[in-house]
Amino acid sequence: MFTRSADSCPVLAYSQDEFGALLGRVLSPSHPLQSEEFLRGRAEQLSGIKKALYQPGRHVLIHGFRGVGKSSLAQTAAYSLSTQRDPILVGCDDKSRFGSVMKDIFDEAVNRDPNVDKKVRETAFGFAKLPIAGGVKNTTEERAIVAPTGVNEAVRLVQFLCEHYASNPVIVIDEFDQITSRDEQALFTNFIKQISDRHVSARFIFCGIGESVDAIMAAHGSADRYFHTVSLGQLPYEARFEIVTDAARRCGVQIDETSVVRIARISDGFPHYVHFITEMLFWRVYEADNGGVVTGDLFERAMSDAAEGMEMRLRGPYETATQKYTDYAEVLWAAADGHELRRRSSDIYDSYQRIMRDRDGSALNRAKFNQRINSLKKPAYASILTGSRAGWYEFTEKVVRGYVRLRAEQQNVILEVDHPAERSRVNGFLAAGLK
Ligand SMILES: Nc1ncnc2c1ncn2[C@@H]1O[C@H](COP(=O)(O)OP(=O)(O)O)[C@@H](O)[C@H]1O
Ligand SMILES: [Mg+2]
Repeated sequence: MFTRSADSCPVLAYSQDEFGALLGRVLSPSHPLQSEEFLRGRAEQLSGIKKALYQPGRHVLIHGFRGVGKSSLAQTAAYSLSTQRDPILVGCDDKSRFGSVMKDIFDEAVNRDPNVDKKVRETAFGFAKLPIAGGVKNTTEERAIVAPTGVNEAVRLVQFLCEHYASNPVIVIDEFDQITSRDEQALFTNFIKQISDRHVSARFIFCGIGESVDAIMAAHGSADRYFHTVSLGQLPYEARFEIVTDAARRCGVQIDETSVVRIARISDGFPHYVHFITEMLFWRVYEADNGGVVTGDLFERAMSDAAEGMEMRLRGPYETATQKYTDYAEVLWAAADGHELRRRSSDIYDSYQRIMRDRDGSALNRAKFNQRINSLKKPAYASILTGSRAGWYEFTEKVVRGYVRLRAEQQNVILEVDHPAERSRVNGFLAAGLK
């Protein structure tokens, strides 16, 4: 795939265009992965999904926090199981309904193979209840006026796709959590039950954040019989290392252990940060004209590039929460310390004291600290934290923790200093040799 290997082509032998294109292939900060070649740390889940989908009548449900890698796992599994034709990938938004998703599936199949549309017309295969017209001109207007319901028709539609698109297509329905209506969720559950009971050979993979799983399961008592459920957590340390070291090898960049560990630690297991910081870093290395070596100085610059260039979705809450008063940044860094996503306020206060000691700053007393941490739950502070009555706190959007850690690290504040698993894994991985 790569015309030049790292050995024969150190970083500076590339033109800027070539280097940019190479980075675009080996790092993917902004789009889900579709190939096993780049999917790290998910071998077990991938194999579980494949095994589950060999079994007729079984489907998959992947859930986990935003940004952990659900879409990547779903799409990679879908591609590797799709032998005849590409899988069909559709996403949901807050306007999606059961019928509109079915229409999207149909449209996607037509996109990939226009013959599907021709077949519908030839066979005058009509869908009265789905927003799909058969045997007649298929205008947007026509589709819009038809009521988008009808589990039976949707089953017929998918059966049709099995006959004319691929005999056992893999269909990914992503961001299922966007569908919040109980009635609509129940239609999906019934649909899956019908697909399975009627031996329709299509295989579905749903992705969604946490609660959507409960919803799909609650809608039908026996729904879990039809689903292989994958609960996806943050990416393990080794996988974070591999993303960086593999990209370094392919780009001809020499990177030291400390930098790899720092990127892995900052990311908090949300791979976007690993890809994005590495991308910024490699550009700095490219531009430094120093033979392709990562240095401490380049790392600092790359962190600033990453902090400034981060998407608003990840950067915005931190900026809102810290812009009014200076104290708040340290409180947030403390909240992002450790590897647990939910932390007791007393533990956060311990982290806070440690951070302030390291910085030779004077710490707020506990009462003032409590007042600050409570403020961080308010909309004026972007509701960046969520707290329970019992004194547990968590980041409202978990993936934002990575940005907070990046900002802390920029100030030389090291978070998650003594996570035992990190120590042993880091040592094990690094002992295996960082090339
Ligand atoms: N296992 C993985 N190995 C390497 N990179 C990954 C992995 N999983 C996800 N990514 C990267 O992380 C980012 C977020 O992944 P995505 O699948 O979109 O997460 P989610 O769907 O859970 O929000 C993407 O840029 C993707 O390329
Ligand atoms: Mg996704």
